[in-house]
Amino acid sequence: MKEKLLALKEEAFALIENTSDKKGLQDVKVKYLGKKGPITEVLRGMGKLSKEERPVIGALANEIRQAIELVIEQKQTKLQEELIQAQLESETIDVTLPGKSIKTGNAHPLTSIIEEIEDLFIGLGFSIAEGPEVEQDYYNFEALNLPKDHPARDMQDSFYITNEILMRTHTSPVQVRAMKKHQGEGPVKIICPGKVYRRDTDDATHSHQFMQIEGLYVDKKVRLSDLKGILTVFAKKMFGEDRDIRLRPSFFPFTEPSVEMDISCFKCGGHGCSVCKHTGWIEILGSGMVHPNVLEMAGFDSTVYSGFAFGMGPERIAMLKYGIDDIRHFYTDDVRFLEQFKRA
Ligand code: PHE
Repeated sequence: MKEKLLALKEEAFALIENTSDKKGLQDVKVKYLGKKGPITEVLRGMGKLSKEERPVIGALANEIRQAIELVIEQKQTKLQEELIQAQLESETIDVTLPGKSIKTGNAHPLTSIIEEIEDLFIGLGFSIAEGPEVEQDYYNFEALNLPKDHPARDMQDSFYITNEILMRTHTSPVQVRAMKKHQGEGPVKIICPGKVYRRDTDDATHSHQFMQIEGLYVDKKVRLSDLKGILTVFAKKMFGEDRDIRLRPSFFPFTEPSVEMDISCFKCGGHGCSVCKHTGWIEILGSGMVHPNVLEMAGFDSTVYSGFAFGMGPERIAMLKYGIDDIRHFYTDDVRFLEQFKRA
């Protein structure tokens, strides 16, 4: 009986050794250790043994049973490890392979220009103010010294929603709103970027909808020379350190005096070329000292406070800076155009 048990043990060990999967191990376990297995059978037949033999064979049978269990367990762990190892090997990532590049978009050239201008003015102590695109006649015109039926309204024909409500023709109404909020207390130092609308026929240089950035600085003792200083910094930062500026008299109903700002041509340095139409100067923006009527209507005492304002079109700035020949490129979303303005 002892030999039989030892032979069973050898047999089971060999089988376990040759098993290569979980299911096979389970089968071996059932076969040798199950209720109908040979070891159980041996134990059942113990009745036939002598008193002396019984404990010896019993102990041996248990020992063998435990040994087989242990070997099965060890094999199971080994198989599991092999499985994980194989999986790891088959799923290894070759980090030396070239990756697939991810397509990234880029900011619209107008967004970039506007952000560049915003950053510049934030650096000069201005903050950003925004307002509604659908605006009241009062803020868009009346409070800017443009009463109803004033002929200067013709400069900025709009799309009317009702007699009193229109698509704003400039971002100056945001300045009126900001001044009113300050309730006669300066300083007000803001720039107002945003979309504006005019009843224009679209062509290479006109669009019925475009962008503006306007600036306003109201405080005690603000002078035209302050405006000139700020505009000089702006011109140099946007178009190069060598730029000069000049102010030409102009007219806007909301500023007095009003000036047009030109920069010396960045292409030819002022000698005359096609970019500056052989004048040496390029017109950039309109500006002036805030009209006393505008200050008063917005709640500021015009004998104490003064201010300057300016307004520019980011499209024009971008067209000049990047040599873009048609304003419509900005709005038609042709990726061949847009992709050229990837920021580094
Ligand atoms: N609001 C003017 C326009 O749209 C621009 C401007 C702003 C001019 C401020 C002078 C001062 O034409």
